[in-house]
Amino acid sequence: MNITITGTTSGIGHALCKHLASHTIKTINRDNFDLSNLQNFNTLDLSNQDVLILNAGVLLGIRDKLTSFTHDDICSVMNTNFLNNIFLTKKYIEQNNKGHIIYVGSMVTTRVKNLDPMYGLSKHCLKIFFDILRHCEDAQLFNICAVHPGRVKTKMHRHTKGYEYPPSTMDVDTVAKNISYAISNPEIKDIYLNV
Ligand SMILES: NC(=O)c1ccc[n+]([C@@H]2O[C@H](COP(=O)([O-])OP(=O)(O)OC[C@H]3O[C@@H](n4cnc5c(N)ncnc54)[C@H](OP(=O)(O)O)[C@@H]3O)[C@@H](O)[C@H]2O)c1
Repeated sequence: MNITITGTTSGIGHALCKHLASHTIKTINRDNFDLSNLQNFNTLDLSNQDVLILNAGVLLGIRDKLTSFTHDDICSVMNTNFLNNIFLTKKYIEQNNKGHIIYVGSMVTTRVKNLDPMYGLSKHCLKIFFDILRHCEDAQLFNICAVHPGRVKTKMHRHTKGYEYPPSTMDVDTVAKNISYAISNPEIKDIYLNV
């Protein structure tokens, strides 16, 4: 299979590349597309890709006040976690007659909390976008699967010093295995991975 994955330099995306090594992988990373800026993806070819995995994401830090975010912070999180994923999905649908989209959401979409409000907002937006897309006419021949992990041991939490997270027990391989399972079972719509 031909599989495109975003955010493969570390964490879940990196583990996923190892799990899917028998497939032909195309990667979207900061060196070709900096997702914190809005991209038009004009130079990206997503034709003949059996699966698009939207994994890249950023967590700027734990702040519980809206006023502690600069405008650049807000744009960076929303572009990386939400808006560029819409543009990539649109391009994928335009360039393929059918396909399979798997996005990495988060368990934060199962509740509303004020810890890191911009990250939570971006993941809620992403989930709503795909819930709506499932009903759009031009997406009917595309399987859409959401993988929602709880806390995973990755470098994503490096900016959250000072906040005591509950200890994480989920490793990247657990998430990668579940995404591999979703690839083999395209009828699956949602996977919730709590710890
Ligand atoms: N870790 C958790 O507890 C957890 C829980 C639920 C959901 N998730 C989601 O899982 C996904 C993967 O995160 P992770 O935990 O594996 O964290 P990670 O190790 O920090 O990996 C994030 C990936 O996204 C890439 N990325 C971030 N900003 C980018 C940008 N501006 N342009 C291009 N690529 C960018 C990173 O590339 P660089 O190395 O260049 O920054 C990296 O490859 C994210 O969507 C995250 O929200 C994580």
